[in-house]
Amino acid sequence: MDKFNLIIIGGGPAGYNAAERAAHEGMKVLVAEEKALGGVCLNEGCIPTKTLLYSAKVFDSAKHASDYGVSVSGASIDHDFVITRKNKVVTALVTGIKMSMKKAGVTVVNATARITGKTSDGFTVKVGETEYTGEKLLICSGSEAVVPPISGLREAYETGFVVTNREILDMRAVPEHLVVIGGGVIGLEMASYFNSIGARVTVVEMLPKIAGSADDEISKILQKNYEKRGVKFMLSAKVIAVGDRYVQIEADGSNEKVMCDRVLVSVGRRARTNGIGLESVGVLTERGEIVTDETCKTSVAGIWAAGDVNGKSMLAHTAYREGETAVNNMLGKKDRVDYRAIPSVIYTNPEVASVGETLESANASGIEAAAESFTLKYSGRYIAENAKGDGIVKIVIGKKHRNILGVHMIGSYASEIIYGAAAMVANEERVEDVRKIVFPHPTVGEVIREAMFMM
Ligand code: NAI
Repeated sequence: MDKFNLIIIGGGPAGYNAAERAAHEGMKVLVAEEKALGGVCLNEGCIPTKTLLYSAKVFDSAKHASDYGVSVSGASIDHDFVITRKNKVVTALVTGIKMSMKKAGVTVVNATARITGKTSDGFTVKVGETEYTGEKLLICSGSEAVVPPISGLREAYETGFVVTNREILDMRAVPEHLVVIGGGVIGLEMASYFNSIGARVTVVEMLPKIAGSADDEISKILQKNYEKRGVKFMLSAKVIAVGDRYVQIEADGSNEKVMCDRVLVSVGRRARTNGIGLESVGVLTERGEIVTDETCKTSVAGIWAAGDVNGKSMLAHTAYREGETAVNNMLGKKDRVDYRAIPSVIYTNPEVASVGETLESANASGIEAAAESFTLKYSGRYIAENAKGDGIVKIVIGKKHRNILGVHMIGSYASEIIYGAAAMVANEERVEDVRKIVFPHPTVGEVIREAMFMM
């Protein structure tokens, strides 16, 4: 039986990154991946959506070029071309990961893995038809889209009328009217793309706001931007049934039948823990998620878990960090994930990015905090590039130490600026510390420094 120092179940961002790190540290590593390396992020998530959204951004720029003295006539977008380009981008990146696995000496087995037990040599894992032994295990089996128990939804999913983030990325025809169930990250990114390319889009959200965990003020600005572009929102609303070319929606006590020709269901994801044999070794789960601590250890010595499967943050960048944290701890190098400072981004146009506490979450945790918003118009670069922008940055500080607890932004470059704010939160920098950092000028990010003199 083939023996490895480490067997990794799942070759997504948590798994492939951990594999590379572990191999570089001299471990003999096997990665079991049933689909394609890169996982959901690369194959049906982060990267394909960003490819689509970039095409939409170029198209939107062409439509609004006259705001900047540029005349563009006859701009159009070829959705079929966009999908083909997306496939090329994904293939190139998956090939890149395959090559780096090979270079690092990682064994990749393209089959489904299942833990079967433990012997004196280590844990036994069946990958396809072959059994392997791993002294240590890292479980990175990811997550899957939730298909909620709405009448008719499952059947409509089988016929293709309802799609998830996976199928929508391969849909060659542009729907005339797309209904999106769930105004969270996936719903908003897809609504943005399909609105830009000419579809009518209605977003049905159960909560009274979109982008659930986002700061309230930012969520409203985002909603206003979408509404100006023609996206319709039904908030505090529930889809109660899906039928032939319609969804039945309940909102404000009334019932409405909305006709549409495609439905995207994006109401969250759940950890994938079924069928991987966790019970054979007694790994503890709660609500279907593997229980881990900040070192990514599970309840069983020698088994770690990283990425969406622990249900903690469900973001690819958290997965990278968890994977490497697990490997460091396996090697005896103490490491822990700082969950307070994980940035999140919604790649809409304008972009939304945030890190740390909102005023509401800080108050709820009993931290005395203060928050202030600043218009991005303090930035000359922002004004030069945004004829009609209404972006803001909101800073949340602790009242006692004046340390940065959270930064929330909506506007251009937000996704690229936020990691600087993550460093401020992680390092517990104070307002006075940030004032001493020199930011490049003119940039949109320098509004954060400017804000420090007004707090
Ligand atoms: P989500 O949790 O972001 O949003 C789901 C939304 O659906 C919530 O606002 C919720 O209130 C609403 N909802 C739930 N049940 C509903 C119902 N029956 N009717 C109407 N609304 C309902 O989940 P989403 O968008 O599916 O994304 C899944 C995961 O993927 C998230 O954890 C997200 O962080 C991650 N992701 C991250 C991206 C990024 O970093 N840019 C991009 C895409 C996904």
